[in-house]
Amino acid sequence: MRWRPGNTTVESVKPSPPRSEGTSPVPPDPVDWSARYAAEDTPWDNGAPHPELSLALQDGRLAPPHEGARVFVPGAGRGHDAIALARRGWVVTAVDVVESLVAEVAPQLEKLGGTFVVGDALEIGEAQEFDLIWDHTFFCAIQPRDRARWGKQAARILKPAGHYAALVFPVGKPVEDGGPPFGMSCEALMQALGPLFRERVSEPVSRPLKRRTWQEFWLRAEKTGLAPAQ
Ligand SMILES: C[S@@+](CC[C@H](N)C(=O)[O-])C[C@H]1O[C@@H](n2cnc3c(N)ncnc32)[C@H](O)[C@@H]1O
Repeated sequence: MRWRPGNTTVESVKPSPPRSEGTSPVPPDPVDWSARYAAEDTPWDNGAPHPELSLALQDGRLAPPHEGARVFVPGAGRGHDAIALARRGWVVTAVDVVESLVAEVAPQLEKLGGTFVVGDALEIGEAQEFDLIWDHTFFCAIQPRDRARWGKQAARILKPAGHYAALVFPVGKPVEDGGPPFGMSCEALMQALGPLFRERVSEPVSRPLKRRTWQEFWLRAEKTGLAPAQ
C-alpha cells in the first residue's frame, strides 16, 4: 500500500503535523534504495528473520504484552522480521520507502493481520499508536543528520511504557567512515531517543549473523516519559 497524505484507506497511518514555518526542509536521502532492490544489490538481506529476533520471539523476550499489541517495523525491506513478528501474534505495521516491495511483502503480511506501508518511517504513524518499535538496520541506514528526528518520531508513535528493541549494528565502525551502514552504538541510539527513554538491556547478541564483520548488540529501551503533544 502506498502511503500518501490524506490516504484514508490506511486508517491508522497518518502524516505528522506539518513543519512549522521557518524550519529548513530536510535534504533528501541520497541513497537510491529502490535502485538497490531493482539491481538485487541488497547485501543486508538475510533471507530470513535475524536469528536473535527468532530466539527472542521463542524465549518470550519479545512476546506481545497483550492481544492486539502493535509493532512498527521501520525500513522493513523484504519483511522477514515483520512476518516473524506477525506469526508470533504482533499486529505489524511494516514501512519501507521502496514501492516495489509491496507486491512481495504485503500479501504475506496481510494474511497474518499486518500492513505494509510505502513511505517515510520518519513521518508515518499516529501519536502513541505502537507498543513496540523493532529496528533492524534502520537506524544505521538513515543519514546521521536524521537520527535526532527519528528519535523524536519514535517517542511520538510509541505508547507510554512502549519499548524500542533494536539490533544495533555496525558497532565499532566510526560514523565518519560513512555508510550506510553508518557506524552506530547503543549510546548513539539512546542519545537519539532522548531523555524520555531508559535503557533496559544492552548486550552483544548471542546469535550474530556470521557474514557481518562488525559487532551486533541487542538493545531494549523503554519509553518511561511522555512525549510532548503535537
Ligand atoms: C539496510 S536495509 C534493512 C532492511 C531490513 N530491515 C533487513 O534487515 O533486511 C534498510 C531499509 O530501510 C529502508 N529505508 C531507508 N530509509 C527509509 C525511510 N526513511 N523510511 C522507510 N524506509 C527506509 C530501505 O529501503 C531499506 O529497505
